[in-house]
Amino acid sequence: MGAIAVAATAAAAAGRDANQTEMTEPIRVAVAGHRGKVGSVLAAAFQNEAGIEYVGGLGGGEDLAAFLHERRPRAFVDFTRPSEAVHNALAAIAAGASPIVGTTGIPADGVDRIETACRSKGIGGIVAPNFAVGAVLMMRLAEIAAPHFEAAEVIEMHSAAKLDAPSGTALATARRLAAKRGDKPFSHQKAEKEMLAGTRGGEEGKVAIHSIRLPGFVADQEVIFGLPGQTLTIAHRTTSREAYIPGVLLAIRAVTSSPRFYRGLDELLGLGGV
Ligand SMILES: NC(=O)c1ccc[n+]([C@@H]2O[C@H](COP(=O)([O-])OP(=O)(O)OC[C@H]3O[C@@H](n4cnc5c(N)ncnc54)[C@H](OP(=O)(O)O)[C@@H]3O)[C@@H](O)[C@H]2O)c1
Repeated sequence: MGAIAVAATAAAAAGRDANQTEMTEPIRVAVAGHRGKVGSVLAAAFQNEAGIEYVGGLGGGEDLAAFLHERRPRAFVDFTRPSEAVHNALAAIAAGASPIVGTTGIPADGVDRIETACRSKGIGGIVAPNFAVGAVLMMRLAEIAAPHFEAAEVIEMHSAAKLDAPSGTALATARRLAAKRGDKPFSHQKAEKEMLAGTRGGEEGKVAIHSIRLPGFVADQEVIFGLPGQTLTIAHRTTSREAYIPGVLLAIRAVTSSPRFYRGLDELLGLGGV
């Protein structure tokens, strides 16, 4: 082999080694809200996850800029508060970290700002109100059923600690189902004689929503459809906040490997065109 060929082979091998190192390099992940109910579960999971290097967590009142500078995360997972999450995400993006935002209640213009910042920095990101894979599928399956039934009701069950009702997922489900009805809205049967106020639940898009708050629940939801002679129930149950781990990991891997921005988990689950 000539000198040039040897040099070329060595260069190719070096390039291969560099690529391999790059491919196997773990993703540096940080968690904002790491002492919270969801954040603590995620932080623990990341410490044992292949391909992930957990670089630490940020709590309320701590120095975000110093944290980002010291820990240099590639992915910044946020399960904090709506008043904090946009600011956190924008700072993370400016430091080159892809935001994975699970915090709910962020105003629409806040999500727009996060997307714009990701695009101008050329990095991926996601804001998803529900990272539980089963919940996302439950909503999509219910959308498929919606055109075929006359009426639908949603029952959502959460822990007694949840302050708001109904849940954002229940409200979003009702709106998505109503949108699938086009000019034939669901029939919503009100009680002719209501013996106790509120027993028929709230109503959104002609879909009744019933909220249950009890210790023991994490975040469950049933969508029940009715037609004469038959009902269809699509139910999603959670037993712990581990329910969020697979969806968050999927999102971390996706947004750190391509500069795309996602609203919700649907597209990442291949549900975009279903
Ligand atoms: N997308 C989903 O799938 C999903 C699922 C469940 C929950 N959520 C949402 O995720 C959020 C957190 O839920 P949770 O139940 O885990 O609440 P939580 O237990 O109250 O935890 C929130 C944590 O955020 C911390 N925090 C507050 N401000 C912060 C800041 N500026 N920087 C860093 N950390 C900060 C708090 O720490 P201090 O107490 O020390 O301030 C607290 O530990 C909520 O918006 C909830 O609705 C989303």
